[in-house]
This record gives sequence, structure tokens and C-alpha cells, in this order.
Amino acid sequence: MKTVDVLLKELTLEEKAGLCSGKDMWTTKAVERLGLPSWMMTDGPHGLRKQKPNGAGFMDAIPATCFPSGAGLASTWNRDLLEEVGQALGRESKAEQVGVILGPGANIKRSPLCGRNFEYFSEDPYLAGQIAKHHILGVQSQGVGASLKHFAVNNQEKLRMTIDAIVDERTLREIYLPAFETAVKEAQPWTVMCSYNRINGTYAAENKWLLTTVLKEEWGHTGLVVTDWGANNDRVAGIKAGQELEMPGNGGITDAAIVKAVQEGVLTMAELDKAVRRVLLLTEKVLAELDPKATYDKAAHHTLARKVAAEAMVLLKNEGGLLPLSSQKRVAFLGAFAQKPRYQGGGSSHMTPTQMDDAVTEARKIAPAGLEISYGAGYSLTSDAPDSKLLAEAKTLAQKAEVAVVFIGMTDSFESEGFDRTHLGIPASHLALIAEVVKVQKNIVVVLSNGSPVEMPWLDKVPAVLEGYLGGQAWGGAVVDLLFGRANPSGKLAETFPLRLEDNSSYLNFPGDGKKVEYREGLFVGYRHYDALKLPTLFPFGHGLSYTTFTYGKIVLDKSTITDKQTLTVKVPVTNSGKVAGAEVVQLYVADKSASVLRPVRELKAFAKVFLNPGETKTVELTLNNRAFAFWSVETQDWFVESGEFELNVGSSSRDLRQKSIVTVQSFQKLPFVWDQTTPLMLLKNHPVGGEFYQAAMAEFLTWFGALDKDDPASLMMEAFVAEMPLRNLVRMTAGKLPEAQLDELIKALNQAG
Ligand code: BGC
Repeated sequence: MKTVDVLLKELTLEEKAGLCSGKDMWTTKAVERLGLPSWMMTDGPHGLRKQKPNGAGFMDAIPATCFPSGAGLASTWNRDLLEEVGQALGRESKAEQVGVILGPGANIKRSPLCGRNFEYFSEDPYLAGQIAKHHILGVQSQGVGASLKHFAVNNQEKLRMTIDAIVDERTLREIYLPAFETAVKEAQPWTVMCSYNRINGTYAAENKWLLTTVLKEEWGHTGLVVTDWGANNDRVAGIKAGQELEMPGNGGITDAAIVKAVQEGVLTMAELDKAVRRVLLLTEKVLAELDPKATYDKAAHHTLARKVAAEAMVLLKNEGGLLPLSSQKRVAFLGAFAQKPRYQGGGSSHMTPTQMDDAVTEARKIAPAGLEISYGAGYSLTSDAPDSKLLAEAKTLAQKAEVAVVFIGMTDSFESEGFDRTHLGIPASHLALIAEVVKVQKNIVVVLSNGSPVEMPWLDKVPAVLEGYLGGQAWGGAVVDLLFGRANPSGKLAETFPLRLEDNSSYLNFPGDGKKVEYREGLFVGYRHYDALKLPTLFPFGHGLSYTTFTYGKIVLDKSTITDKQTLTVKVPVTNSGKVAGAEVVQLYVADKSASVLRPVRELKAFAKVFLNPGETKTVELTLNNRAFAFWSVETQDWFVESGEFELNVGSSSRDLRQKSIVTVQSFQKLPFVWDQTTPLMLLKNHPVGGEFYQAAMAEFLTWFGALDKDDPASLMMEAFVAEMPLRNLVRMTAGKLPEAQLDELIKALNQAG
């Protein structure tokens, strides 16, 4: 390929315009005259979905390894594992001559109802950012680009193509943007995919603040912005805003609009060149890496998929240590998902696996001699209505067994890209199966297949629950590994499971009024809300059990006081105090104890996953930089660290905090403050310049109100009344005892003192 600068000189206006949109559904346009070829990008994110050639249907894809979808990947809390998954995705893309694989999705789970939550990572921006970053680093290490999506504020499926998400600036900066920010700054995805929706009135695809000011200028994104498929609204406005590539192709309609805009002077050639340069730079990168000989090892990727699926699953409950199964001889696997797992979600990520493991077959493969595994479907996969014959069969098997493993969850019609859920329920047929089994069996393990939280009205009746998520093609094998203790659960929830849908903070404002959706809960998303309101949950954020136990030693900080420029190192020894090897996710939450603005009770700011043999202790080291203490200041348009005490909580979940410590932050950052006639008098109280005035004014006013006993409630009221008075009343309400000119002098002196 010729150099980008040469191409920019040689391309005609029409050719440049053409490069700003695709050729068809999945490829870019070629300019054969100049030797510029076309190349392919395709879905992701948890496996390659490359449509078969020659007129195959949209969903008819070549086989590729299906890893757990986003919800499961995030539950691993394992950065290294995410890189391994990314590398595998990269290798498979390369073997299929795909230049960019579309994913990961870093949108925040605002409501458990969002139909696409199975694809997204977390309700927490720090965790989502870490997972997205390492996914991208993995993919791109193979010379294949990632596409970080859907930028931004795409938190529901309902009217996702037109809905206007109304979000205040602090909430955008602290909740909805940071996962993208981390991924962009620390993994530099080759492409960012802008979302369909509008944000505060402007489509993401033509939102200059989002795509240029924030993404390119503040975060330094050097790659290209591609539209979500069909997200382009006004092509010329999009280019001006910093969106370079429209996908899919549209037969040249918008190319003509670009040409016309340049000819009429609405769009300058320099603006168009800026966009085309990024398209060419990406093409250059892709071409340099394409390798027709690339292959990958299917069996090795399947083995990796099994390992990842086992780490993605979360042991929610294990009363009496029912799991792992060891001494039982008769185990009943009940529920059609045991044989035909629901292992991925519906929509653009739905792909064709290279092979499929089911739990029944895998269990029989590994079962020790003498262990009998029976199977009953319990419900039909074609209807959600209970089937009495299947139920009766399952009940009999449950009765004969020593333990029943019941496979239930959500079917495809319950959650998918394209629509949101309206409740947290599961099919009636699955509920009926549990109801029948509990009548005859006490030893019940529920294994869930779902992409997002469900309610569990049956929870009290079953001793063990394994959240299997949508675990990819090796789901069945991974479930069996965990059930029989061949692997030890180490997944932790990346989202809160609420007791009731109504407890979720978006409940009153989801999914909006058809035109707009107002994010009125502000910062209080997920555990930030449940913790602020001290609401009980079904399972809290960060929760997940193990077959072993972990004890936490005392936290040691490398400094007890830090400035706003310093980092803090937190060390905590963690011991495996049980009998089997296992991994613990050590979570560090930071709480601002003296904030001047409304802040969440505590927020996740660091975590580490540590593998420990029985009896082993390792000291986990976590680092906090100034961002861990900061809030977004709308006044300064920047991150702001406030002086004061911050509590650090280290724990095994957001509600199982084991150790705490305090660090004092001394900040040299200042928020702008101007004294004027309306500043409340109380701010003078301890001020070096104004303190005396305050005392004098207070004495004067209190006499004015008449002598009152100090403990008289009326005195307290008077004091509060005076303290909150605007400074102007020092003149007005003392009948001029403090002349206006003197007050002006005072205000001047206060402003000079800073
Ligand atoms: C989805 C994207 C996907 C694209 C291409 C869109 O509808 O929102 O996530 O990558 O289609 O299939």
C-alpha cells in the first residue's frame, strides 16, 4: 500500500467520500486504481461471527470458539484470563482474514432489564474498564483490531436507535464514561464504535463533544470511530464531529452527500482529509497484519473456553457444603438445559460454535465408577408452559437420587439484543420443575443459565445455587468440573442481584417515555444505590463463594497521609484457610468520609485475584492513584481530589468487608470560590480574615434578638438563622452598623486571601 500521505494526495474527492462508508455489510471499500484493497470487520464480542460467503443468512456463520459472554467474562475478575480470551479471539479472526472484531461492549448495566446485559460487563465502571482493557490488549496483541462499543450511554435496547439519554455531567464522567476511558487510554482500541442513541439531545454518531473533545482530545484515541450498524444520522455532521466510518455500506447515498457538502463549502477538504487519514491509517495497520496462512488450534481454544467458563461461574449459595459432590452415588440431572445448554445470547453476537459440550455427557465422561447420572428434561424447550409428563418423570428421578441438580434459567425469548426484559422472572415451566423437585428431594443444586439477574422465590428451599451465566460452548464441561470439585469456583458477581426489580434505582425511569430516558438516579447505579439506601439484596455486587475459605490479615498502607499527586499502596495478606486450592478476588472499596458533594457510600477502586494453595498466604498489593479519590467537578471541568479522610475497605464482596483503614488526603487542588454579598455568613466563622467579623456579627445579632438562654431551642434557631444569612445582611440587618463600604472592603480582602 502507498503511504497515507501519498494516498491523500492522489485520491479524488469522490474516492475520499467513498472511504467514509463501507462497501457492504462487513467490508470497507477498495480503491483499485491506487492499489487500496478492501478488508473485513465482523462481530464479536465473545467469539468470531463471520457470516458464510455467497449469500448466506445474517446468522449463518462459520464455526468459531464460543467463549462465555460478557457477564460471565467479567465475573472472572481475572485480567490475565481476559487477555488469553482476547488472544484466542485475535488468532481466530486472523485465521479468517478479519481485520477488526467488533467488541468488547463496555456499557454499564444501569438496569437489570437491559436485553443486552449478557454482553456487557458490569454495573461498576472500574471493573468494566479493567475487563474491557484486557480483552482489547489480548485481541490486539495478535495484530487484529478491537472495536470498543457502544460509545456511549447505550444502556437499554428499547428504542436504542433513537432514544435520547438525558444524563448529568458528573454521572457521565463518573459512571458511564470511565470504562471507555480506561480502555481507550490503556489499550488504545483500533476502533471505537459509536452507539445508536442520542446523549443529551445529540446522536452519539454526530456528538462532537463525545467523539472529538472527550475521545480524541482528552483521552488521546488515535484509532477510528465506526458507527454502530445503521447509527449514522447526518453523514456530514458525523464527519465534522469526529466519526470517520459509516457501517454498513449504503450504496453510495451518503458518499454523494459528502461530495456535495465539500463542493458547497459546508465541509472543508481538510475536515474530510482528517477522517480519511484515520481510515487509511487503520487500513495500513490491518493490511500489515493480514496473514493468509494464519491458523489456530481448535482443541486448545476449546480447552481454554472450558477453563474460562469455570472461572466465570459464581457459586451463590452452598449451605451445608453440599457442593462439591463427592460421596453421592445417584445424581439426577434435571432440566433440558443439562443436555441442550443455553450458552449464548441472541442478536449480533450469536455465533456458531466449533463444538458443544453438554453437562449430561460431560458428567458421564468423568463420573467415577459406580456413580450413576440420570437425566430428565423436566420441561420442553419449545414452550415455556409446564409439561406434566416431563415434570412427573423428573420428580421420580429426583426421588430416586441422592442429589438433584436442576438446570433452569432464561430462554432466548426472555433476553436478547433488540428488546429489554419487563420482569426478573424465569419461564413457568422452569419454576414448576423446581416446585416438583423440592417436594421429594432436599439435596438440590440449582444451576442457572442466564445472562442477567433473575429473582429466586425458591431460594430458601434449595441449599446450593451455581450461577452459570451464558458460558459458551464448553459450558457443560465447566459446570461438571465445578459440581464435582475438579475446579474450585472463583467467580464473583459483577452486578447486584436485587431482591425485587422495584429496588433497582432506574426502576421509575426505565426505559423512558419513547423519546427520552432520564437517568434521574444519577451516580446511584447498582451497589452505589443499594448501599446508599442500605437495601437488602438477593446477592450483593462482588459476591461469590469458594470450596475453601480465605482469611484476611491487617491492611498496611505505605503512607498514612498522601497528597493529591501521590499514589497509595495498600497491602493485605490473604490466607487460604481451607482444605483445597482456590482463588480469591480481593476487592478494595474507597469511601470519602468528608465529601463536600454527594458521593456514593463506597466505590470499587482496585481488585486482584490471587491463587492460593491450602494454608498458603500471599500479600496482595493494590495501588490507588489520585483518580481513586476524585470526583468530577463540573465547575473546573476536571477531576477533583478533596482534602480529608478516606476509608479503605478490603473485602470478599461489597457487603463482606473484612479489613479497614483510613488515609488522610491533603489536596492542593482548589475549587474556584468567589466571595460576594450573597455568600453565607457562616463561611466566615473560622476564616483568618473574616473570623472576627463573624464573632462580632453573631454577638450583635444575638443581642438584637434578645438575650436567650444558650440551651433554649430558640437560641439554636437564631444562631442557625444568622449563620446562613447572606453577607449583605451584615449591613442591612444591623441598620448600617457595618457600613456598606466596609463590607465591600471585607469581601475584597476575603477574595484576595483566596
Ligand atoms: C449491534 C453491534 C454489532 C453490529 C454488527 C449492531 O446492531 O449493536 O453490537 O456489532 O450490529 O452486527
